[in-house]
Order: sequence, then C-alpha cells, then structure tokens
Amino acid sequence: MRNVLVTGGSRGIGLAIARRLAASGDYNVIAVARRESEDLGRAIRGTGADRLHFRALDLDRTEEISTFVKELRGAFGEIYGLVNNAGIGTEGLLATMRNSEIEALIRLNVLSPIVLTKYVVRHMMASGAGRIVNISSIIASTGYNGLSVYAASKAAAAGFTRSLAREVGKLGITVNAIAPGFVDTELTRSLDDDGRRRIAGRSALRRLPEAEDIASMVEYLLGEGGRNITGTVLTVDAGNTA
Ligand SMILES: NC(=O)c1ccc[n+]([C@@H]2O[C@H](COP(=O)([O-])OP(=O)(O)OC[C@H]3O[C@@H](n4cnc5c(N)ncnc54)[C@H](OP(=O)(O)O)[C@@H]3O)[C@@H](O)[C@H]2O)c1
Repeated sequence: MRNVLVTGGSRGIGLAIARRLAASGDYNVIAVARRESEDLGRAIRGTGADRLHFRALDLDRTEEISTFVKELRGAFGEIYGLVNNAGIGTEGLLATMRNSEIEALIRLNVLSPIVLTKYVVRHMMASGAGRIVNISSIIASTGYNGLSVYAASKAAAAGFTRSLAREVGKLGITVNAIAPGFVDTELTRSLDDDGRRRIAGRSALRRLPEAEDIASMVEYLLGEGGRNITGTVLTVDAGNTA
C-alpha cells in the first residue's frame, strides 16, 4: 500500500481526493488540515480497512513542517504521493487589501507547499519514485477581478511544477499541476447562484466541474497511466477556458 499525503484533506476538493484514493484500495491516505471535519471523520470510519488517516498541522507554521514530515515517515514509512491542495481564496481589490491578507495568501498557497515538498521530495529522491500533484487554478492564466493575489499564488504553483519536474525527473519522480475551474466548495461560497449559472453558461459543457472530477485526475496521475506525464498543468474546468 502506497502512502499519499493530501493537504487540505478535511473538506472540499481535498476531501474528495482523500476519499477517492482511499477507496481505490491502492493507497494509504494521510489527510492533513488544521482540524478534522465531521465529513472526514465519517469517511475515516467508513473506509473500514484503516486506509484513511488524519494528522493535524497548521501549514502556515512552515517551521513545523520538517518535524511533521519526520513524524509521518516514522509512523507510516515511505511517502509515495504528495498532493498540495490546501489553500485559501481570499478575495479583494489589490489597492485596498490589507498587507496581512496578502501575506497570509502567499504564505499558505505558495510558501507552505514549497517547504512541504522540499522535505517530502528528499525522501522520494532517496527511494527513486514519487508523484507530486499541485493544485493550481484556471485563474492563474485567465484572470479574475478581485483575485489578483490569489492568481499570483496559483501561477506560482504552475511555475514551481514545471521546474521541479525538470529537477527530479531523473530520479523517477513526476510533478504535475491541476488547474480546476470553479468548483462548489466552502472556498467559493461567496459566489451566488446567478454567478454560478453564468460561469456554467460560459463553459463548453454548460456545467461546472465537481470536486470528484479533480479527484479522478489526481488518481490518474498517481496511477500507472500517469507514469510518463510530468511538468504539465492539466485543466479540469468543464470547458470554461476552451
Ligand atoms: N473551489 C474552487 O473553485 C477551486 C478552483 C480552483 C482551484 N482551487 C484550489 O483547490 C484547493 C482546495 O480548494 P477547496 O475549494 O477545496 O477549499 P476549501 O473547501 O476551503 O478547503 C480548504 C482545505 O484547506 C485546509 N486548510 C486551510 N488553511 C489551512 C492551514 N493553514 N493549514 C492546513 N490546512 C489548511 C482546510 O482545512 P482547515 O480549515 O481545517 O485547516 C481545508 O481542508 C485550493 O488550493 C484552491 O485554491 C479551488
């Protein structure tokens, strides 16, 4: 059973990823977030075969990441997969956004996944195998009013992905990003039904992607089908940017 770490695995897209990988029977999933949600607790009890676990970590505390990874290795052994999914989507016009909000966004969406990847990839390099998936967003390349800082953080994920893929490919490790379109989760709760309908109406498939669709793509990248895919950004947006 291969160990996969899913950050932000307590709800939304991360929970869908954690659930799907655990249900596949191929992975032992460790979901990371600040708090274990009721839904994750239910999913853990539901898997039965002890394939889904929760470990608490505030990823804002980058200084704790190294010890956290060491403890995980001690408890679970080699880590095969890392899904950098935790993120916040603070909206705001740049001109009036507080510096503290800008820093918090960049810290969690950019700095934390880079530092976490650094400590996890070292072990992957030693074992000569590994799969890393970074969750970016279509906003990284499309642009959206009120999301400039968020967009910068998600563009960082794409740039990080491409260069790291070059760096660790020779050691048998793949690094890819997924760019989801609008998915209905807590992160996007500020958008009303009209806004959702508008986005769906502009999409080729006239609907929105769901968290499960992102989870399927992660499962594919981690599986046999993904062995020769690296350094790419895969869009899952029901054709919103087609
Ligand atoms: N929803 C969309 O439309 C959409 C579109 C494109 C990309 N994305 C990206 O997809 C990812 C997941 O988004 P989502 O919509 O599923 O968001 P969500 O429902 O708000 O879930 C965010 C997850 O991140 C965790 N998290 C937040 N702050 C954390 C911290 N400081 N330390 C550790 N964990 C933390 C949360 O758990 P705790 O609060 O308990 O810590 C939760 O599990 C994000 O990177 C987002 O940018 C989302």
